[in-house]
Amino acid sequence: MQDQVCHVHRGKLLFLMMAGAASILLLSIGGYQLVQFSDSPTFCGLLCHRVMVPEYAAFQNSPHSRVLCASCHVGSGADYLVRSKISGIPLIFRTISGDYDRPIVTPVENLRPARETCAQCHRPERFAGDLVVTKTTYAADQTNTVHSDTRIMRVGGGPSHVAQGIHWHIQATVDYLALDRQRNDIAWVEVKGLDGSSTVFTDTAQTASVTPDKIRDEKRTMDCIDCHNRATHVFNSPETLIDQAFLQGQLDTDLPYLKQQGILALDPAAPTIAEAYARVDAIKDFYKTKYPKIYQENLNSIDSAVQVMKGIVDLTNFPDMQVTWKTYPSKATHEGCFRCHGKLTAQNGPDKGKLISSDCELCHYFKGNQ
Ligand code: HEC
Ligand code: HEC
Ligand code: HEC
Ligand code: HEC
Ligand code: HEC
Repeated sequence: MQDQVCHVHRGKLLFLMMAGAASILLLSIGGYQLVQFSDSPTFCGLLCHRVMVPEYAAFQNSPHSRVLCASCHVGSGADYLVRSKISGIPLIFRTISGDYDRPIVTPVENLRPARETCAQCHRPERFAGDLVVTKTTYAADQTNTVHSDTRIMRVGGGPSHVAQGIHWHIQATVDYLALDRQRNDIAWVEVKGLDGSSTVFTDTAQTASVTPDKIRDEKRTMDCIDCHNRATHVFNSPETLIDQAFLQGQLDTDLPYLKQQGILALDPAAPTIAEAYARVDAIKDFYKTKYPKIYQENLNSIDSAVQVMKGIVDLTNFPDMQVTWKTYPSKATHEGCFRCHGKLTAQNGPDKGKLISSDCELCHYFKGNQ
């Protein structure tokens, strides 16, 4: 039983354990300031949570790099401090003995609720209107041809009674039941209206698996993390990171086939970092043999391209934890939305019998390609 509990809560326990045992040690030798340090991202990510190096690397590169690990994972206040630190002790032994999941399993059970974390800084009722997103990509061709697409996301939001668009889900009350741990296989959804009405949507192929007991015990109310599960630990693909590096001028578009060579070196992930770096180093040989003149004239930019690609290895490949950019997919994507949209059918209400819309224009519209 104890073991089962540990397994289920491991994501959270890992936090508690290391922060916990270590801070008691620190408290006894160094007092409160050291304990505070044990809650800092550097400590969490590097020293004590060695196993969390992937999350730390992804976090440092994210919009939330200044937010403390503990403010989302543990909680603040003396009560939380004592609870989380003390419950950590037994688990430090498991880390030392290497007895933890690789990769760490998500979803993290008992993550602090979004309204206590995300909503401290983001106020959903404030969101309004459309968000223009421009994505710049580079082709895997000789000239690394640049291409930009602009789409306008109907983020919407606003106070509950008028909320619309994508952030409508958090202003309304949307409960759902998933049949798998990863919450990908959603079979039942209920939307509660402000007037007390209820509309139920189900996956007609799975009605047998959806029982009232299961709904009562396992349903979850949709919040930020049901879409933004990767707001902080963003694991971008090598392709995306190469595109970003071109866009920021860190990679030279004049080097023929640089995008193509980068992808060949970085995807799929290598079994060890040494091998990943060796594959990246081989990009030099490509230019030396295929483009000797360009190689001679651009030694510096080829060298720096190799360095940039090694940086990308460090953000995409964590062999010790068996983590790559594919391990923790984001749900703020088509895969995430189509868990319900285009899959579940209304069981009552004016739209009875209709699927939740998957009309392209429901979520975004496009403005001329460039
Ligand atoms: C802004 C909030 C926030 C901060 C700050 C934050 N995390 Fe997370 N963390 C999350 C969310 C959300 C998840 C994913 C939860 C899920 O899918 O169940 C997560 C998941 C994790 C996981 C499980 C593996 C994974 O990638 O899903 C680990 C380990 C982790 N975080 C470690 C850290 C460490 C170490 C830090 C500080 C360096 C940190 N977190 C800071 C919100 C945060
Ligand atoms: C301590 C304040 C703080 C907390 C807590 C916080 N955020 Fe943020 N968040 C920010 C700031 C500041 C930005 C803008 C950063 C920037 O533009 O560089 C941001 C940006 C974002 C973005 C836009 C990301 C992008 O790529 O532009 C999303 C989505 C987001 N946050 C979601 C969340 C979610 C979900 C949580 C809870 C798990 C959360 N935030 C918790 C402060 C916070
Ligand atoms: C139904 C899925 C969903 C839910 C639930 C959700 N979001 Fe979003 N959010 C999105 C999408 C999609 C975007 C558009 C940007 C993108 O494509 O990533 C977005 C955009 C954002 C942005 C950037 C907005 C801007 O104008 O720059 C922030 C910040 C954000 N969300 C925070 C939150 C917070 C905080 C919550 C919880 C209170 C939340 N979101 C709940 C899907 C969702
Ligand atoms: C758990 C199920 C679920 C998931 C996941 C989900 N939705 Fe929805 N969504 C719904 C339901 C239910 C409705 C309301 C349908 C209705 O009333 O016919 C809805 C409505 C919407 C609307 C219209 C809101 C309005 O009234 O203006 C938009 C836009 C939308 N969703 C976008 C998204 C996007 C984008 C994602 C993924 C990032 C997403 N949804 C993920 C269940 C879901
Ligand atoms: C339920 C909401 C929803 C619907 C319906 C929807 N999309 Fe999207 N779409 C999204 C979200 C969220 C993103 C942003 C995903 C991301 O950044 O990966 C997106 C991104 C895209 C992109 C950009 C992909 C990229 O890699 O940048 C294209 C193209 C696209 N959608 C096409 C379509 C088409 C065509 C349809 C109709 C068949 C459609 N979408 C229907 C939510 C939706």
